[in-house]
Amino acid sequence: MSSLSYRPWTEGDDLALLQVWGDPASPHAHQDRTMFRPSTDRPWSRCIVGEDQGVPVAAAVVFESSLHPDRLWLHVEVARDHRRQGIATEMVGLLRAEVPPSGVTALKSRYTTGPVDKGSAAAGFAASIGQHEIQRSRDVVVEPGGLKLPLFNDDGLTLDDAATGSVELTQLVTAFYNATHEWDRAAMTLGMAQKMLLNDATGAKGVVMLRDKPKEGGGKILSFAISYEPTRIDAPADVLLGWDPELADADAAEAIRGLLAMIVHQYPVKLEVDDSMVLLSGLVDALIGAGHATVISETHIMATA
Ligand SMILES: CC(C)(COP(=O)(O)OP(=O)(O)OC[C@H]1O[C@@H](n2cnc3c(N)ncnc32)[C@H](O)[C@@H]1OP(=O)(O)O)[C@@H](O)C(=O)NCCC(=O)NCCS
Repeated sequence: MSSLSYRPWTEGDDLALLQVWGDPASPHAHQDRTMFRPSTDRPWSRCIVGEDQGVPVAAAVVFESSLHPDRLWLHVEVARDHRRQGIATEMVGLLRAEVPPSGVTALKSRYTTGPVDKGSAAAGFAASIGQHEIQRSRDVVVEPGGLKLPLFNDDGLTLDDAATGSVELTQLVTAFYNATHEWDRAAMTLGMAQKMLLNDATGAKGVVMLRDKPKEGGGKILSFAISYEPTRIDAPADVLLGWDPELADADAAEAIRGLLAMIVHQYPVKLEVDDSMVLLSGLVDALIGAGHATVISETHIMATA
């Protein structure tokens, strides 16, 4: 047992902990810290802070997500000079004693490896609480020049743009998300897809897509690319590249390659590629091998069940 005392998270703890923790090691670590917030019952979340003689040094949170209903997110951070004293283990024990009304107890967490943080503490800690990897997700920058542009024609393959509010697009984005998250069952709805991936608040700037023929001729969307405002002004645009999960593999592979060729024709883009996106992941591997793409970070999603 550590000599810390534990209490619920309160407003202002983020600033107090920033003083002790220092800046996050990466944009992902920054994002992970935003999971700490006061406990609520709807959605269900519990967040605690560990204090050493009245000074906050550690925090831990578990929360339910209606998007991925089978597991609770867990995130823990402990000040460097307090690590390896069993604090994270103790906090997870306290949080495990709290069970949401849904009865869900499986815990998932994530850590990102990059040039600064190699993630060995997080990997060791995840293993120590019985978690194993359920997914790997890579941030990859794809450069121009590695892909042949598709051949378009007047009544066949067409490049199209759409408003991010388009119902047809929202339906496909929803189906794509659910189909590529079988490893952590997703219950994405049209409303959630709008809120989390498409509306202005998400930073979505525009969408291009490939159709098998022009829309007026009843063309269907084969693949889509939603671009988001990059985190830095000079960084490549963040792009969510998806496709119709009903397509046969060969057709989907073609639709992915063609659209990626179009969007990287002039400028690099950044993609987040889960291993579960088998066709895209395979294409990206080939581009990495040929020197046309670079992995900037890898996120490991770990779970107890
Ligand atoms: C991961 C982290 C929360 C662990 O906190 P901690 O209080 O040091 O962890 P504990 O002392 O409870 O360690 C429990 C076990 O985890 C493993 N572990 C912890 N740190 C480790 C390290 N640096 N290398 C290898 N294994 C490690 C060990 O098995 C350890 O047991 P042991 O000390 O008896 O060998 C802490 O390193 C941290 O804040 N990292 C940055 C944030 C983060 O990556 N969070 C992970 C996502 S939940």
